[in-house]
Amino acid sequence: MRKQIAAANWKMNLTVSEAEKLTDDLLNTGFSLHPNQQVVLGVPFPYLINVEQRVSNKPNVFVAAQNCSDKSNGAYTGEVSVTMLKSIQVTYVIIGHSERREYNHEDNALLAAKVDIALANGIKPIFCCGEPLQIRESEQQNGYVETQLKESLFHLDAQAIKGFVIAYEPIWAIGTGRTASSEQAQQMHAHIRKVLAGKYGEEIAATISILYGGSVKAANAVEIFGQPDVDGGLVGGASLIASEFAAIINSLKK
Ligand code: PGA
Repeated sequence: MRKQIAAANWKMNLTVSEAEKLTDDLLNTGFSLHPNQQVVLGVPFPYLINVEQRVSNKPNVFVAAQNCSDKSNGAYTGEVSVTMLKSIQVTYVIIGHSERREYNHEDNALLAAKVDIALANGIKPIFCCGEPLQIRESEQQNGYVETQLKESLFHLDAQAIKGFVIAYEPIWAIGTGRTASSEQAQQMHAHIRKVLAGKYGEEIAATISILYGGSVKAANAVEIFGQPDVDGGLVGGASLIASEFAAIINSLKK
């Protein structure tokens, strides 16, 4: 059974004390996880250690960095390598969030390199894909997302992609309060799984967790996560409120 994941993306928010308090408050909500369910907290770099220390004895709760360098080390001022992340026990890294694609001009080829260096160092990527509004309006979203997957992931062999985590985040739904309908989410997730099955076979495709992101909140999580090909969510704004995110965690499919 593939993993169901509630992933938080705190983005560039919170001070260290706020990050610690949010973590403690969340752990104190007493959310419950089945063995195939995970909580992943996408924490700003400076607080990764603080949050990792707080969750390290909690089964199935992990931290994620929000980005990593595609280089292993060297004269790259301001960059953070996966080796550094590994040295502080970071489990996951979010790769290719649409905000980084847009503001930092990250393209599919660069993201392929980031995926490779993360996997080579034992850090699990959460690979983000998703189309902008004008692509959705012209009904080209399937092909657009397919290209993102092909150019950043399809060089991987079946062993590397087994159990991989992908987040589908339509850009028009991020931070806008306008979520995709559960039908739109299911349609795209099924398409992504079909594309993966075409390349790697049904059995491997069935092991890949596909999260939905874009204005997920407690009020819509049960319906979205209930779709057969939706394996949880990548949550921005609503993950900054402990009780709200706990309710989202409890909405994961059993
Ligand atoms: P949102 O962000 O939940 O605030 O829409 C999701 C994301 O960008 O990962």
